[in-house]
Amino acid sequence: MTAATWTLPTGSPHAAVIGLGVHRAERVVPNAAIVDAIDSSDEWIQRRSGITERRWVGPDETLESMSLAAARAALTDAGIEPAQIDAVILATCTNTQQITGLAPRIAHLLGAQGPAAFDIAAACAGFSHGIAIAADLIRGGTARHVLVIGAERLSTLVSETDRGTAFIFGDGAGAVVVGPSDVPGIGPVVWGSDGEQHHAIELSADWVEAFGSEDRTLPHIAMDGAAVFRWASYEMAKVAQLTLDRTGITVDDLDLFVPHQANMRIIDAMAKAIKLPDHVRIARDIADQGNTSAASIPLALARMYADGTARSGDLALMIAFGAGLTYAAQVVRIP
Ligand code: UT7
Repeated sequence: MTAATWTLPTGSPHAAVIGLGVHRAERVVPNAAIVDAIDSSDEWIQRRSGITERRWVGPDETLESMSLAAARAALTDAGIEPAQIDAVILATCTNTQQITGLAPRIAHLLGAQGPAAFDIAAACAGFSHGIAIAADLIRGGTARHVLVIGAERLSTLVSETDRGTAFIFGDGAGAVVVGPSDVPGIGPVVWGSDGEQHHAIELSADWVEAFGSEDRTLPHIAMDGAAVFRWASYEMAKVAQLTLDRTGITVDDLDLFVPHQANMRIIDAMAKAIKLPDHVRIARDIADQGNTSAASIPLALARMYADGTARSGDLALMIAFGAGLTYAAQVVRIP
């Protein structure tokens, strides 16, 4: 048998984030508006989670409209035309139109030229999974520009009477364009899962069970908050440290810490465990946005630009974790 010579793509030496865009859901919902239904208080919610208010979709907003708005803003920020996008990756766990993924439609509405387009379901860790995949696609020569979107409409799947979740979640979208680079812009990913704890955050019933039941109740997000809290506070600090080690840098080299916005106490616990020095600015977007799952890291980063906390060229440690349980972390040079 003669050995065939195949033509294989050659990638860019490195990949980098070259543009960022976000969309915050328009309805501001303060703690006072939700406490009665869960027998709680503004004081309890702030003390236990750091949240004072959250953003929920208004009547005209959808997962699609938020994704599109964030994607358009990211393309503009990157100076990239839709036709230059080779792949669209949408990270979401709240696309209730399960068949099919939303990414192809977003690509079409953007005016892209039929790129590869698919959704990924890694819950709150989805955006960081998307960045890792995008970087490898570019370094491997499969794509030149990849649009990564994290978008969630969690308010649809939250039970207003569930004490453990009604106050936590918010809606929004964030997107980045990842492109080729001559210098490192996205470090190695440290990612993984703990499927033994898959019941710690899940829908209360699967769709078929829910609608086959007598009362046909919409399923809602159910969470063993304390279990997730313990896992996130202890295990994710180790993942953060491993990410720095694999990248070959230390906390002293960082400018920004942009963790998933799950709970202000988890953010503080991680920062303390990895001994972040004072000069590292910490993202705290959760206070008035809520936990937006896959959208939380780009939304938090956008907030830091807007208030002057982040500057172009800063080195950020991003770490995301959530249902699955899944996690992913990487060091990113921000655009
Ligand atoms: O983004 C995906 C990943 N998700 C997360 O990372 C979320 C992780 N978990 C959390 O953020 C926290 O577990 C919560 C903020 C959800 C809850 O805070 P907690 O400190 O873990 O509260 P807990 O569930 O341990 O409950 C403590 C107490 C209990 O009362 P007792 O048994 O001590 O008397 C609860 O009954 O607080 C009570 N409680 C509430 N009280 C007022 C539980 N929920 C509420 C509430 N309002 N909403």
